[in-house]
Amino acid sequence: MRAAPVSRTGARVERLPLARFTTLGVGGESEVWFVSDHAQLAEAMEQPYRILGGGSNLVIADEGVPERVIRLSGPLAERDLEPDPHLSTEDEIVTGWVGGGVPLPGLIRQLQKLGLSNLEGTVGIPAQVGGAVWMNAGTRYGEMFDGLHTIEIVTPQETRQVMPDDLQWGYRDSGIPRNHVVSRVRLRLRRSTPEAVLEKMEFADQARKGQPKMKTPGCAFKNPGGVSAGRLIDEAGLKGTRAGNALIAPEHANFIVNLGGATAADVHALLDTIRERVPVPMELEYELWPERLPAAQSPGRQAADRHQADVHRDGPTT
Ligand code: FAD
Ligand code: EPU
Repeated sequence: MRAAPVSRTGARVERLPLARFTTLGVGGESEVWFVSDHAQLAEAMEQPYRILGGGSNLVIADEGVPERVIRLSGPLAERDLEPDPHLSTEDEIVTGWVGGGVPLPGLIRQLQKLGLSNLEGTVGIPAQVGGAVWMNAGTRYGEMFDGLHTIEIVTPQETRQVMPDDLQWGYRDSGIPRNHVVSRVRLRLRRSTPEAVLEKMEFADQARKGQPKMKTPGCAFKNPGGVSAGRLIDEAGLKGTRAGNALIAPEHANFIVNLGGATAADVHALLDTIRERVPVPMELEYELWPERLPAAQSPGRQAADRHQADVHRDGPTT
């Protein structure tokens, strides 16, 4: 077997089908850079790139993407949860560095066992820490920004550390620009007990009972003004609508699922149908790689167009 090529700074570089890195199970071959330290990350960012986290919010074209796809690994996917003695108090701890490539579900389980609270509301989100911070992933029981102390952000120009208050964060939005890499974070956690944290986790988990169990990137649209987008899509009569091998889930209308062999085009077709049929403007939560400008116009579509135009303006770097 031939060893994978290694870059100047030692990053492993391989052409791989991205489908295997996404929860939807769709996405063609691209050049993946597995970077395990800041030097490798800097080298990977010398050319146009995208950042791949847990792949749990992505709809990637069947042709893949032309840019380098960066995946954090090694030490950038490790965690140091030891309390910092200078910053921790009797009630609250600040941890060491937690890599952006750390899988969130395992981290949440570990925090529960340690009796550390603040992030249990994010239970069940199949992200990596970096992707979850970048999106400020959450539920109505809590979000990532509830438990952050410092965020390290890497751009092709610099590495800087920011505090949550330095950012304009909100619902499903960290305020961190696209293509700025969340390389590591330090967590701010409240001392509690494993039992109390578990109880809160079970409460948050209960809200997921009605969500589909098939391959999916989660909710397709953000909730407009706090109203459930799922409810709006359901009220438009779209549950169970199928395009090719993709389906609007009968369990929850804001989830698009892969019945097996779905293509990105199948998912795009369902997103178009939803935009055309739901009278309320809704912002896309899924990220389409590459970005795609929709053709038809509708009230919902016009708002989506504006969002897509923003996505184009902000990146990826070319
Ligand atoms: P990816 O999907 O890999 O990427 C998403 C975006 O984040 C891309 O722009 C990518 O470039 C960027 N990104 C990834 N890593 C980094 C990084 N290190 N630095 C900077 N940018 C980065 N979301 C919720 O908010 N709440 C939920 O309850 C929820 N439930 C879900 C349930 C299921 C079954 C599934 C499949 C998804 C669910 N999601 C939920 C959606 C998804 O998990 C979140 O959007 C999550 O934040 C995506 O993180 P990721 O690491 O998978 O990122
Ligand atoms: N509803 C319907 N029909 C549907 C779906 C929902 O009538 O097809 C109704 C439900 O009956 C309920 C209300 O809408 O009365 C709210 O539904 P739910 O509790 O499922 O919450 P949601 O607002 O649809 C949000 C997040 C989910 C998160 C859950 C649980 C968004 C876009 N969605 O869904 O996040 O897991 O709350 O906290 O904010 C994601 O972002 O990918 C995601 C899955």
